[in-house]
Amino acid sequence: MTGGKGVKVQGDHFQTKKDALEYCEDVLQTHPSVVVEEKFEGEEFSLQCLTDGKTVIGTPPVQDHKRAFVNDFGANTGGMGSYSCENHLLPFLEKKDVEDGLEITKKVAEALYKETGEYYKGIMYAGLIKTKDGVKLLEYNARFGDPEAMNVLPLLKNDFVEVCQSIINQQLHKIKFKFENKATVCKYVVPEGYPDNPVKNEKISIGKIPKQARLYYASVDSREDGLYMTSSRGVACLGIAEDLEKAEKIVEEAAKSVKGKVFHREDIGTRKLIEKRIRHMKDILSHKIRKL
Ligand code: GLY
Repeated sequence: MTGGKGVKVQGDHFQTKKDALEYCEDVLQTHPSVVVEEKFEGEEFSLQCLTDGKTVIGTPPVQDHKRAFVNDFGANTGGMGSYSCENHLLPFLEKKDVEDGLEITKKVAEALYKETGEYYKGIMYAGLIKTKDGVKLLEYNARFGDPEAMNVLPLLKNDFVEVCQSIINQQLHKIKFKFENKATVCKYVVPEGYPDNPVKNEKISIGKIPKQARLYYASVDSREDGLYMTSSRGVACLGIAEDLEKAEKIVEEAAKSVKGKVFHREDIGTRKLIEKRIRHMKDILSHKIRKL
């Protein structure tokens, strides 16, 4: 495990087989093994599901932004921010894509039981990608996504404790789930230099934030004289509204109010970036983008 930051993609982080082997050799100095996977071209999305081992419930799909800088430049991070839409789809997804992701997850939950004889109870957070050949599975995490949890949990109208109890008691099928039909945008405020060379122990201050915004404190230290950043993602800001444009405006104002040696991605949830995603998906579906 490399803290979610070990993945290198051909054509992006390296070009040739030789480059790939050199990276593998580097990793093998400090880690026991390397996983090599088929490369998929497409748009990634997160489908965080709840399961009691028998029933699997999907939450609204979310798109995370792994790259550190605006326009998807820079190193991979734990996730710089994410968005979800009021119709519980994403601008490049059809209803069928989300259903396919859920179907894969149901089959995996079933297979887990068949193979282990035990019901897996908890979160199945599927990392999925829509390709020209349909939705493919990249990975599962047995936890919510960070930041994606902050997009979906505030929309959940049910009592979360009851939901958790129904997972434990295998009564999830009895719960009538309701997620608000609202758009969400989350942006992480991180230390300058993050993720490769973050400045540490820098004091931050938080100005006036819009009343509709929420702030979630992550890697920050609360000291007698105020708040200090550590070396990781510090404060997650969230905007919830009827549509993406409004949610983005709220969150951007909140993120800007965090002052200090910090930055955030201004482009997450903006029309410009969303249109780029839609174009990318259209090109893939029309076979304009071929595998390297
Ligand atoms: N958003 C990426 C993760 O939680 O792993």
